[in-house]
Amino acid sequence: MPTTGNSIRHLSLSVASAFAFVACAPGPQPSGTPGPTRADVAAVDPVRAAAAARGAFPTGWRFEPGEDATFGEHAMVVSVSRYASEAGVEILKAGGNAVDAAVATGFALAVTSPSNGNIGGGGFMTIRLADGRTATLDYRETAPAAASRDMYLGPDGKLTNKSTVGHLASGVPGSVAGMAEALAKYGTMSLAKVMAPALRLAGEGFLVDSNFSSGGQCNRLIAQFGGKELFCPGGQAAQPGTLFRQPDLARTLSMIAAQGPKAFYEGPIADSLVAEEQRGGGIITKADLKNYKPIWRTPVTGNYRGYTLITMPPASSGGVTMNQTLNILEQFAPLPPAGSAAYAHVVAEALRLSFMDRNAKLADPAFAKVPIAELTSKDYAKTLAAQINRNRASKTPAFDPGKEPEHTTHYSVVDAMGNAVGTTTTLNGGYGSGVWVRGGGFFMNNEMDDFAAAPGQPNMFGLVQGEANAIQPGKRMLSAMSPTIVLDPNGQLLMVSGAAGGPTIITATMEVILNVIEHGMTLADAMHAPRLHHQALPDQLDYEQRGLTGAVVDSLKAMGHTVGTRASLATVNSIMRVPGGWHGVGEPRARGVAVGY
Ligand code: DON
Repeated sequence: MPTTGNSIRHLSLSVASAFAFVACAPGPQPSGTPGPTRADVAAVDPVRAAAAARGAFPTGWRFEPGEDATFGEHAMVVSVSRYASEAGVEILKAGGNAVDAAVATGFALAVTSPSNGNIGGGGFMTIRLADGRTATLDYRETAPAAASRDMYLGPDGKLTNKSTVGHLASGVPGSVAGMAEALAKYGTMSLAKVMAPALRLAGEGFLVDSNFSSGGQCNRLIAQFGGKELFCPGGQAAQPGTLFRQPDLARTLSMIAAQGPKAFYEGPIADSLVAEEQRGGGIITKADLKNYKPIWRTPVTGNYRGYTLITMPPASSGGVTMNQTLNILEQFAPLPPAGSAAYAHVVAEALRLSFMDRNAKLADPAFAKVPIAELTSKDYAKTLAAQINRNRASKTPAFDPGKEPEHTTHYSVVDAMGNAVGTTTTLNGGYGSGVWVRGGGFFMNNEMDDFAAAPGQPNMFGLVQGEANAIQPGKRMLSAMSPTIVLDPNGQLLMVSGAAGGPTIITATMEVILNVIEHGMTLADAMHAPRLHHQALPDQLDYEQRGLTGAVVDSLKAMGHTVGTRASLATVNSIMRVPGGWHGVGEPRARGVAVGY
């Protein structure tokens, strides 16, 4: 098999400089300054130290190895918006814990990153407290009571665009109930206190930054609905550096802060939401809102070479599919070097197998028997691994084809006590269904498209899913969101990570974790390294442009892979423990911002 030869720049490991750092570095460093080196990081644990020199970026790749992470001695918040990360840190510095800060960050994202972090959507939260307790909260949207299996099929039996655009595309939103529930159970502050930064940002406004202005507010989706007047007045989106206020949203947030989630699910916000639904033929009713409940679920835990992953169970597929893939990969460990054809091949084959199970078997456990234990067992992984030929790509049996858009958001929080929270939340597509709740000041999700709206036909992520995930009233649509917490072999908190990007969430989160624990990369290199993706169908191994060398791509084709390129794969926001504190790295492909102290 051709190797990557000298077109790979191997990362060098300077033991001398690592020791120099250890000798002089402990103690506070300002946010944004470089923290420990990669060797220093690897020295946190010997398994990773052994792998420390194996990371590699191909020539021509858009990022250089050796970038700095943000260092925080005490705590760290990483999200796609500086305002939202700062909101979390403000709450931490005021004495809040990681859950308080996560909820503050979540509400702030609803203001400063409305295309994705929005109260009209839903999400998942993974929590690990410093005393070792773990919890996962599912506040995924649910199908309204009037939803039906074939509601998005046209007379020709083909999917219409109604699962993605307009009033019929929304599930009953879960974000407000979920964040309030997490706060009530594990937070220490009142809703009013943690929502204060978000309220301020909405009411007093904030200076438009690159994160907000990159959101394309003058798009055709928004132009069809009420949000146009605020986001694209006179055909012009708010420009960077100008003050952006959202008075309707400020009023909505202040009602939630004062009255709790009831204001959203039963009070005046519910009235505005239902009135908006009725304006455009939507089916969400007051009863749907009133009946909405977030659900605490038992985390899916996995073990990869001594590291523990604590992550999300169904209604997200994230935890099961990530652990299943890692279990298969463990059979091949130590894995070939990152960037090699052998590595891309085995990762793609493992992903193919676990996504085949995901797409057919995973769904809301209240509606389908979901074989979590079987899919995540080491024995099953051995059987699957035995099906992988090291030199030849297999074929995904027919089930059907696909494509992909944007927007979800993940944020990671660690506090000074060592409590950790990973949260992923979404409207599904950018600005969701496009529908803006007039008076309420927020966009609604188009999460109904995550169901198998037509089993066997691809959804907007190209995912071809089965009957288990067909639409039923009151059911939660299968997600890929994967907020994940990783413990090192000593059971100490090592990482918090997660991503946006539809099915690539699972792959990218797993790859960042693998880059750290298998390839010994620093968190910064792990985040900057090229990513791969395979989701069984379409039967294609995708890589980021210039993320594999030409020789590696040729090898993969010779092995029988169909390969495709993407401009970029997923938006990950991660934190990792390092000597003396935390490294935070916001997604370099997007505009992730880590704030630590
Ligand atoms: O729950 C899911 O898996 C999708 N609704 C996530 C969508 C997403 O990540 C869009 N992109 N950035």
